[in-house]
Amino acid sequence: MTIDGRKNDHIDICLSERVRVSKDHWDEVHLVHQAIPSCDLEDIDLAVDFLGKELSAPLIISAMTGGSDQAQEYNRILARAAEEFGIGLGVGSQRAGLEKASLEGSYSVIKEFNVPLVLGNLGAPQFSDSRGKGISRYSLEDVARALQMINGDAICLHLNYLQEVVQPEGETHICGFLDNLGDLTKEVKVVAKETGAGISRKAALSLKEAGVAAIDVGGASGTSFSAVESYRDSGGSGRAKRIGTTYWDWGIPTPVSLKLANVGLPLIATGGLRNGQDVVKAISLGADIGGMAWPLLSAASKGFAELKREISFIIEEIRIGLFLTGCRSAADIVRPESVITGHTGEYLEFLSRY
Ligand SMILES: Cc1cc2nc3c(=O)[nH]c(=O)nc-3n(C[C@H](O)[C@H](O)[C@H](O)COP(=O)(O)O)c2cc1C
Repeated sequence: MTIDGRKNDHIDICLSERVRVSKDHWDEVHLVHQAIPSCDLEDIDLAVDFLGKELSAPLIISAMTGGSDQAQEYNRILARAAEEFGIGLGVGSQRAGLEKASLEGSYSVIKEFNVPLVLGNLGAPQFSDSRGKGISRYSLEDVARALQMINGDAICLHLNYLQEVVQPEGETHICGFLDNLGDLTKEVKVVAKETGAGISRKAALSLKEAGVAAIDVGGASGTSFSAVESYRDSGGSGRAKRIGTTYWDWGIPTPVSLKLANVGLPLIATGGLRNGQDVVKAISLGADIGGMAWPLLSAASKGFAELKREISFIIEEIRIGLFLTGCRSAADIVRPESVITGHTGEYLEFLSRY
């Protein structure tokens, strides 16, 4: 299947099927209420600095799409909303745009808008050394082209090996990746980004050593790409359905991953955040900003007015969450306090012993 066909499949499946992991780990994170807030509600300062860019709220629309006409329309309205609210925006994998010039416009459409933080997106397998196995290997020039395509501030390299092992056309190459990443980070700002299976402490330390500028933990709790690929199996051998179902819930829960990946780099919390309270929970666990994909795709599918309504509710909920936890700002050095219970709490406690 072509890359553009695959991209449309992902959007269609995400909008028509249940693609979440079985457990909402954010339900097991509880913010601690402060009966005496630190300032008036309207004085809460939501602005944050992330990778040297000022966002009006600690929020980014996570990487989703590009590479088809449908994707172009989504990128247009997502970018319009990001401009209007002063929040960040990531585009989906730009491989299609690099490999087929006619698809560049589906990404570069976002240049029509003044978005404060724009993140490009390419995949880790394209930075491995597994030559001779039919994969393209991207150079620094390719990365520069990807960034020029969108006026990007940094490039996300997505680590999506869970998805790659399930999809029939998956690219599971990794040899030499960390060394190549180390070379790349000397020239360009790189954000290492998981896509739903989370970042462990070991992975975070390796990424830090390789010089990445930030980590998006992309943990388990929301969209499962194992699930998405299992639906794409129709008419196939049944392999993706079988393996995608077996590994549906695979991954480190996002709240746990935030703790593990906190190695002194800026952190984005993506994976299952549903509202502004979840963003505040993520901040309480060490995130600088929260990222959302599926909830904003779903709102955008109903049109720009619905997307705008959804983001304004999310931002209001962030303000309220910070107020009720006694914070003055999203960048407050005193983070909101939270308690992690149940399965998620046990998972974290077990790992914290080592
Ligand atoms: C339709 C769709 C397409 C996606 N495509 C990409 C992609 O191209 N690159 C990437 O890094 N992440 C991609 N993601 C993953 C998201 O950026 C995010 O990490 C993941 O969906 C978890 O967030 P959520 O639970 O809010 O959906 C995609 C997500 C969705 C829903």
